[in-house]
Amino acid sequence: MIRARRAAFVLAPIVRAVFARAVLARAALALAVSGLAAFVSPVIAQTYPNRPITIIVPFAAGGPTDVLARVLGERIRAAVGQPVLIENVTGAGGSIGVGRVVSSAPDGYTISIGHFGTHVANGAIYPLKYDLLNDLDPIVRLPSNPMIVVTRKNFPAGDFKQLIAQIKANPGKIAAGTAGAGSGSHIASLLLQSLTGIQVSFVPYRGTGPALQDLVAGQIDMIIDQASNCLPQVRQGTIKPFAVTASARLPSAPDIPTVVEAGLPAFQMEVWNGMWVPHGTPRPIIDKLNAAIVAALAEPAVREKLAGLGLDGPPADQLTPEALGVYQKAEAAKWWPIIKAANVAPE
Ligand code: MLT
Repeated sequence: MIRARRAAFVLAPIVRAVFARAVLARAALALAVSGLAAFVSPVIAQTYPNRPITIIVPFAAGGPTDVLARVLGERIRAAVGQPVLIENVTGAGGSIGVGRVVSSAPDGYTISIGHFGTHVANGAIYPLKYDLLNDLDPIVRLPSNPMIVVTRKNFPAGDFKQLIAQIKANPGKIAAGTAGAGSGSHIASLLLQSLTGIQVSFVPYRGTGPALQDLVAGQIDMIIDQASNCLPQVRQGTIKPFAVTASARLPSAPDIPTVVEAGLPAFQMEVWNGMWVPHGTPRPIIDKLNAAIVAALAEPAVREKLAGLGLDGPPADQLTPEALGVYQKAEAAKWWPIIKAANVAPE
């Protein structure tokens, strides 16, 4: 016992000194790294990009998120002088594709495109292995997409009220296509159910691109779909529109009444979109991507194409990375309690 106490008496100052030195060394290292990062990141940004960039689309090709990614991908390519590849990584309401970006290197070469569903709602539905609000750094908010309630062409209803009555008369029998639990089309359908008491039977797809194909083919009965996805089919008369989930009619579809006109003003909803990179991506790279996308959104040809698909905004003061970060966090604070209370089953 006395020997142990003598040993401790002798060793304590040595241990303390070693520990202090280790702390100092770590601090010095951190300083060096951050100093290095602060020195290197502008250098990286100058040479960025020097190889192709990939945008991960968490839904199937041909759908609204994919179309938006391809329009902007082409403009980013033109602005930064490197190919921009689109990779569709689907499943679990888009959470698998987002996870792919979270686990990618924070070097600006892997970008996540997504929306309210993938970057907010999924946080209240799936046991995600990543933190939606902190494992990704925002680049820029993108145009929003109002939603349109559409059915197969020969669905036996003449207006929105009749549609709701038809569904009510057939609880659990009307097949509603979605892009999976947590997707925009799914959350919108849940909201319509909670507001009207209807009960549909969900048919999950890897995106509303393939869901729409089945609606046109009459394989399913309805989708609450993003305007940019279903408007071309509405115009061709291959599906039937009932209402747009907005307070004003769409300039791109003036014939479709609003949910306000149809007597359900509470059913106003839009899918806002954005782009993110893995957390820790050097700020100069985020700024370069932000500048390229903001410039693309201001181009008349891009504006016209997106407006023609019903895509709108974002407001001019919402085009900074910070603005998207603040907006995403506010949406999470608003929607997570609601979605958690609805007990939505993950896929
Ligand atoms: C898609 O691209 O398929 C959509 O964004 C799906 C959805 O959220 O409804």
